[in-house]
Amino acid sequence: MENPILHPIVFLYQLVQWFLDKLLSPNPPQPGVELGGPKIAIIGAGLTGVSAASHCVGHGFDVRIFEAGPREQLGGIWSRVNNTSGLQIHSIMYRFHPSVRWSGGYPNRQQIVSQITELWKKYGLENKTTFDTKVEKVYQDDKGRWIINDPSNGRFEGIIAAVGTCGDIKMPSMPGMDKFKGEIYHSSALTGKQAKGKTMIIIGGGASAVEALEFAAHEEAAKTYILARSDKWIIPRNPVIDVLLSLNVWGGETIFSWIPEMLLRKFFYRDLQDLAPTERGLFTETPMVNSDVMDKIRSGQAEWLRGDIRGFTEEGVKFNLRGKGVPKGGPGKSMLIKGDIAVMATGFERPTLDFLPDDSFGDPYSPPNWYLQTFPPEHVSVCCNNCTYVNAIGSVGNWHIGIYTRILLMFLSDPLTRPRSFWMKRWIDMTRVLKKFAPTGAFDFFTYLELVWWFTFCIAINPFRWKWAFFVFFGIGQTLPRRVIDTENHLRNGLGLKNEANYDKGNSF
Ligand SMILES: Cc1cc2nc3c(=O)[nH]c(=O)nc-3n(C[C@H](O)[C@H](O)[C@H](O)COP(=O)(O)OP(=O)(O)OC[C@H]3O[C@@H](n4cnc5c(N)ncnc54)[C@H](O)[C@@H]3O)c2cc1C
Ligand SMILES: NC(=O)c1ccc[n+]([C@@H]2O[C@H](COP(=O)([O-])OP(=O)(O)OC[C@H]3O[C@@H](n4cnc5c(N)ncnc54)[C@H](OP(=O)(O)O)[C@@H]3O)[C@@H](O)[C@H]2O)c1
Repeated sequence: MENPILHPIVFLYQLVQWFLDKLLSPNPPQPGVELGGPKIAIIGAGLTGVSAASHCVGHGFDVRIFEAGPREQLGGIWSRVNNTSGLQIHSIMYRFHPSVRWSGGYPNRQQIVSQITELWKKYGLENKTTFDTKVEKVYQDDKGRWIINDPSNGRFEGIIAAVGTCGDIKMPSMPGMDKFKGEIYHSSALTGKQAKGKTMIIIGGGASAVEALEFAAHEEAAKTYILARSDKWIIPRNPVIDVLLSLNVWGGETIFSWIPEMLLRKFFYRDLQDLAPTERGLFTETPMVNSDVMDKIRSGQAEWLRGDIRGFTEEGVKFNLRGKGVPKGGPGKSMLIKGDIAVMATGFERPTLDFLPDDSFGDPYSPPNWYLQTFPPEHVSVCCNNCTYVNAIGSVGNWHIGIYTRILLMFLSDPLTRPRSFWMKRWIDMTRVLKKFAPTGAFDFFTYLELVWWFTFCIAINPFRWKWAFFVFFGIGQTLPRRVIDTENHLRNGLGLKNEANYDKGNSF
């Protein structure tokens, strides 16, 4: 812990985290104790998979994690990016498990991987993880239990797919790349590269581009060009502003959206308003979170140019500079941007979910248009945690990982809470109606408060779920619902009614 006199705010932050850990972290299982209850297969050992698994075992459910990569890839995407990578949002919004302890506001890659590894060890997940095993297909036996790849991996009552959204790197091939005399790297492979005194050309205008710009500044590059083919919103790295923006409960553009947009233009972009998108609102696409980028442009250290890449030459990149509002590929001014290093900040391929049964993808209920965005309506025992979202304002690594996990645990434990496919589809339809004026699809953009509304609605609509509310939201109070279920089962047995043995079939609303 920091010295409270020298660092009072950091000390307070650490105290709050200590308190949250003591209050809300489930107890790790005792070594050697067999966990009962439905068994859950977890696909992916990134932050979401490890967090979900620790919640499951902490609440008495056995798990097996299947990870495509080797042990070194524990931590998922964070194990594969630059040493200089770190959180853009404040760590207060990146609490992927109550026992996470951040020592500061913006942890770096190593600190994040270390927190994931600690969690993995603390909950005894080392001997519950199978590395080097890519899940290619999942299917059910005649009792509805899930088989992962083949029966030798065991049988499971539930699945948590946690495959993330950043898979293999996207490295588009461009004409003349082989002629370029400088080096070309993907934005996630900059560790150890020298940029001092050099000119860096960054292709792409997303979060990785901004991060590459930070790398260039850190390495004392002479000049950096960012070549972006579309305008994206940038918001300040300020936890209060970021939290406020995530509190738009409508989860999309509203008649009031011009207010934060106008404030951002006036007080954040200021003289650089040309960079702010005009054709798309703030609540349509995940914004970048950075405050320094504007200063670097103002100081002349960096230039942010809008346009299309025509190809590479020996000396640099042929570029078509477009004016504001001119669409991609539209007319502009041709120029040659000379440089020594080209960084492809062109993103990552999205990992596929096509190992799931085909009926999970039947239109119009294909991802992200699933129940709570996460449960395919045909398979209530499958929770695709953090891997179906497209755009959002909020955080990927936060409290909701536990909430989604516990909703699945509730469905598996209590048949009266498990929704039918019919009702899951009605919820999706209802959300589409509520967001019919949003410029994006209903599930293509959401905010954190909208997510909380989804969870609240899910619990409130079904009285059999009320007893689970504390458990779902905070991970506490599992004893009461368990007692009630025992009594319900007793009553049902007395009446000669049988529980649905298939955990994948809902019979409630
Ligand atoms: C540089 C960088 C910075 C970021 N910063 C932020 C930030 O500030 N805030 C924020 O909210 N988000 C940020 N993100 C987004 C980040 O992706 C999430 O925050 C989070 O780490 C995702 O974790 P995950 O476990 O869901 O996915 P991942 O970390 O991608 O892990 C998924 C795992 O699943 C495995 N897998 C995939 N398919 C299969 C399969 N078929 N079988 C078995 N295993 C499989 C993969 O090998 C991988 O290990 C950042 C991303 C990057 C790249
Ligand atoms: N610290 C952080 O918070 C942080 C840092 C890095 C990444 N991330 C996260 O990681 C994910 C990926 O981010 P990312 O920035 O790597 O990828 P991204 O958001 O997909 O952005 C890729 C950029 O490259 C451009 N691009 C793609 N192909 C191109 C081509 N052929 N020619 C020219 N430009 C091309 C895209 O333009 P178009 O938009 O026009 O397609 C876009 O500007 C996001 O979820 C992001 O939030 C977060």
